[in-house]
Order: sequence, then C-alpha cells, then structure tokens
Amino acid sequence: MPQMLAIDGGTPLRSRPFPRWPVWDQREVEAITDVVNSGRWWSQSGDNVSAMEVEFAQAHDAKHAIAVCNGSIAIEVALRAAGIDWGDEVITTAYTFIATANTPLLVGAIPRFTDVLPDTWNMDPSGIEPLITSRTKAILPVHIGGEPADMDAINEIAARHGLVVIEDAAQAHGARWQGRGVGAIGQMGTFSFQASKNVTAGEGGIIITNDEELYDQCWSIRNVGRSRTGGWYEHLNLASNYRLAEWEAAIIRVQLGRLEEQAAVRSARAATLREALADIEGLDPLPGDPRATRNAYHIFKMWYQPDAFGGRSAADFARAIQAEGIPIVTGYGEPLHSTRVIVERSRYIAERLGRPVPPQASCPVVEEASRRGLWLMQSVLLSAEEDILDIARAARKIQRAWRS
Ligand SMILES: Cc1ncc(COP(=O)(O)O)c(C=O)c1O
Repeated sequence: MPQMLAIDGGTPLRSRPFPRWPVWDQREVEAITDVVNSGRWWSQSGDNVSAMEVEFAQAHDAKHAIAVCNGSIAIEVALRAAGIDWGDEVITTAYTFIATANTPLLVGAIPRFTDVLPDTWNMDPSGIEPLITSRTKAILPVHIGGEPADMDAINEIAARHGLVVIEDAAQAHGARWQGRGVGAIGQMGTFSFQASKNVTAGEGGIIITNDEELYDQCWSIRNVGRSRTGGWYEHLNLASNYRLAEWEAAIIRVQLGRLEEQAAVRSARAATLREALADIEGLDPLPGDPRATRNAYHIFKMWYQPDAFGGRSAADFARAIQAEGIPIVTGYGEPLHSTRVIVERSRYIAERLGRPVPPQASCPVVEEASRRGLWLMQSVLLSAEEDILDIARAARKIQRAWRS
C-alpha cells in the first residue's frame, strides 16, 4: 500500500523548513550600521556604491559596472545606452520574467520572441535570424535560472548582423560560460539584487560592460543625463535618476563576499539532486549545456511528465509536493509572446508608427515549459545533503500513490 499523501490528509514527509533566504549575519548589520553612522547615505558622498561596482565587475570579468536601483531599470538603461529607440526591434525569449520583454516596450521598441532550447530553456539561437529585420537593433538573451545561454552562437549572429547583445543576467550572479563570467560576454549585461536573487539587498541592479562608451552612456543615463566629466547641473542626455543608495550597496558587498562559497554549495547539491532524481521517471532535471562552466542555480529546472504520475498535471504535483514540505513551484505560467500587455503594447507601437504589426511568435518549447516546467529555488540548494534527498523521497512517494 502506498503511503497516504499529505495533500490527502497523510503525514508530510518533512516538517523541518529549508534554509531561509536571505542569509545574513552580523556582517550585514555592521555594514548598514556603518553607513547610517557615517551620515553618507548617498552614492555621491559615500564609498559603498563605487566600491561595490568595482568588486562586482571584477567578479564577472568586466571592466566597468554601473549600479542602478533594480534589475528592470538596469535593462532599460542598457537599452537606452545602446540607442534603442521608438520602433526598433529587440530579439529576446518568451520564457523569462516579464521585465525582459516590457523594458524594450517602455523605451518604445518591440520585442520579438525566439523559442527556447529544451535542454536549458535558454534562447534557441536558430530562432534569431528568421526574426531579424531592418529594424532589429539588439539581442537580449536571458541566462534563465542562472544557466548561461549559448553566448558563442548569439555573439556570432549579432556580429554578422551588427546587433548589440545585452545579457539579462538578473538570475545569473557568478555564472560562467566557457570559464568566463557572464554579463560582459555581450556588449552589456544586467543583474538584479531583488529579494529572491542569489545576491540581494532587497532591491537593486547593476549593468556591466567592457565598452568605454557604453559605460559613459550608462553612467549618464543613471545620473539624470550628467556626464562623468561635466558639471553637476550640466545634463547632456534626457534621462532620470536611477541611482542606488549607499546602504543597499553596503549589503550587496557583504552578500557578494558570500557568493563563491554559496555557489559551490548550490553546485554540489544540484549534483546530488540530479543523481537522486535519476531513477524517478518523469521528473527530469534539464541536462544543460556542457559549455556552461558554472550554472548559478538560481533555479533548479525540471521537466515534469504527467504520464509518469498517473496523468496528474505539473500544478497538481507542485501542490502535492509542497504539502510534503518540499517547495517545488510551477514557475512562469504564461509565455510572454502571448501575454496581453506585451501583445497590446507591441501592436500599439507598430500602429502608431504606421507599420505592420509583427506576426505572433511560435514558441512550442516555451509553451511546454509553461505547462510542464517545475522549479526549485536556489535557497533550497543551500541545505544539507540529507535534506536534498528528501526531494527525491517526496517525489517517489507521490509517484507511488498516483500510480497505484
Ligand atoms: C530574468 C529577469 N530579468 C529581469 C528581472 C528584473 O529585476 P528586478 O526585479 O530587480 O527589477 C528579473 C527579476 O525578477 C528577472 O528574473
């Protein structure tokens, strides 16, 4: 007889919680207290924002970093710095957080969507060229879940067509592609420090680049259009104030100091989990791309096969395993190429410019991932090895119950 599932009134497999997120200790408390006591709360008067920029750039093999108030604004600033404007087109993927697609729209550009690869849920490079038109200006790949996209193929296509590459690395702190830090493999890369991210201050964002001109542009756009060498009331660009506060940067610096150690734990636990799930039919970790030398594991991504679980949906499985004490979730449920605000705004911009509305993208893998994709978030991978094995135990318990 299979055990009764917790969702049906049985005893949950686990009652102990997984590690809390964010992780902090006295170091964060001291960092923020020092900022408060210094009275230098502003990036223009304190040292934390500028020091954090140097440290973050170094950690990602980049020359420059420009801290901003969040990861969405980071993409917007990067797009503006690249000169993306009304009516331009930006190629991105339909399996990502909405900020990746609505930031082009917020600067008046139209996002065009490629499908994703089943092994990574990252941009399928073979989908880029069919979308390129005379209006295409940039490619905006996402390192989804912290796993690097195929930057070799994307950069090669971009170079051939004269396009800018902006990496949305919001989820990919410390990830590496062929040994190289993500973010400055394209012309610019953007990160988020929002509460769930592997490096966090609750909010915050940053852009990194190796390009001097783009650095100057980002600096200016972040700073109300000022120039790095100009006067305080000299505004050369039309821009706004997207600056980060000193205490946010102070926390990020401490969190950044934890990144390498936490990344090693996440990688080790992910390997354990892959092994533990290997003999469970229908719950398949994405194999990934061997050229990704470090997956940041913001999300441990899995394909779910309903047939292996008595025909129950991924959402049913997530509810059942959560009841067992395992926080697996279903992730992005609505592909961006069919998300109402994206579709309507894209149409509005095209119509205002008297242009044909771009045809709707075909993204069957994104649609499958939205239906059958499951996520385990990064903080769970910081638990002890024994706790990780509970994930496979709970999945097996559910499978037995639903197959009987
Ligand atoms: C892929 C991706 N892009 C952009 C963002 C936006 O970052 P933020 O929430 O800091 O604005 C996020 C974060 O949620 C994200 O996951």
